[in-house]
Amino acid sequence: MNLAQLPPDLNSITRPNWIEINLDALASNIQFVRKSIPKKTKILLPVKADSYGHGSLACAYAAKNSGADFLGVAHLSEGMLLRQYGMDLPILILGPCIPADFPYLVEFQLTSALSDLKTAVAFDKYLEENNLHCKAHLAINTGMHRYGVRFDDFDTIRRILTLKHLEVEGMFTHLATADMLDKTSNVSTQRQIDRFSNLVELLTNEGVRPQICHCSSSAGTLRHPESHFDMVRPGLVLYGYNPMGATPPEGFEYPELKPVMTIKSTIRTIHEVPTGEGVSYGQYWVAQQPTKVATIAIGYGDGYLRGEYNNGYVLIRDQLCPILGRVCMDATMVDVSRIPDVQIGETVEVVNGTADARISMESVAEAHHTIPYEITSRVARRLYRKYIWKNRLIRWDDLKEEFHVPPFTPYPLRKGK
Ligand SMILES: Cc1ncc(COP(=O)(O)O)c(C=O)c1O
Repeated sequence: MNLAQLPPDLNSITRPNWIEINLDALASNIQFVRKSIPKKTKILLPVKADSYGHGSLACAYAAKNSGADFLGVAHLSEGMLLRQYGMDLPILILGPCIPADFPYLVEFQLTSALSDLKTAVAFDKYLEENNLHCKAHLAINTGMHRYGVRFDDFDTIRRILTLKHLEVEGMFTHLATADMLDKTSNVSTQRQIDRFSNLVELLTNEGVRPQICHCSSSAGTLRHPESHFDMVRPGLVLYGYNPMGATPPEGFEYPELKPVMTIKSTIRTIHEVPTGEGVSYGQYWVAQQPTKVATIAIGYGDGYLRGEYNNGYVLIRDQLCPILGRVCMDATMVDVSRIPDVQIGETVEVVNGTADARISMESVAEAHHTIPYEITSRVARRLYRKYIWKNRLIRWDDLKEEFHVPPFTPYPLRKGK
């Protein structure tokens, strides 16, 4: 794909770093998950934290076009924004609501998680008194101890599920160790699934089972078919990254996921560093021989992790170029000695969305002792976003038209308020 094909565009000139978001890859990953779950099981795409840094509006619309059934956000404001741009898929706020949220949940028709009886009863009363309707999903704590009513607190669970005015259409839990492969973690995951499964069975027998029971995010979806229930909530997998690290664990084959994000930068200057001289803050890299150094425009101000020095590589003309010394706020120095005719202005792949194992999201994350989620969700707003949809590199303004995204509706949504 040649960026020069894009019409001249100020953002392309004025922003030296950008990300390419491959929405075809997102669609393909949705198809992959669709094929690995039962036909009737729904797919929720988490688009919280701006779709883990991939851009929530574009991902939400691409996901809707590709057959996703639900969207998941963390904050009320994230759901409201999607509605203000006309998104009509059901949106679940994965964290519990509090009473201050009630009017907005109703107005924007957002489905919130419920985590305690007092709030659930207050929400029900609010709806009754104002003659309003809203849906919610009951969070169950099966062992993660983050949100939810305890799995064995049957009285509370029954009371919430049978509220008269609040429609509790779903019930869910979250697995704490599904991406960990040691024996203790496997036991703990199985215990959580069993607790949830037993609860679902009990509620079925009592005739109060909610319509949409769900349990698994990425690792659960891949590793535990018995945790699929009525809906799966894989985020990382749909964005194309494996939750179990860069190398598949023994006996486990990774699925063919397509990475959605590529992070790119440009070379701003090139110079020679003589033997014995150091590079960057702290001078943690010292030339052992005359070295050709390119300074690229990306730094920790762009969300590129500073972490340790001399850590990792970038890719220029398919050549691995080692990072020299510390990453600065707006610059990183790399060794380009192996590319004799390297030029100022050339494109640099910082994290490679074609899953080049050498600078894949997973391997960059491992080099920084972190997880792909942290790398993608830290990408700064100052990076320009370009999208790939139907095999074309396309800008948001054009993509918006293709997705029929309506103009932003200011609050309040309903006139006359
Ligand atoms: C409740 C819930 N469901 C689903 C997800 C998606 O997780 P993953 O990206 O690992 O699939 C998250 C992520 O934090 C979550 O909190």
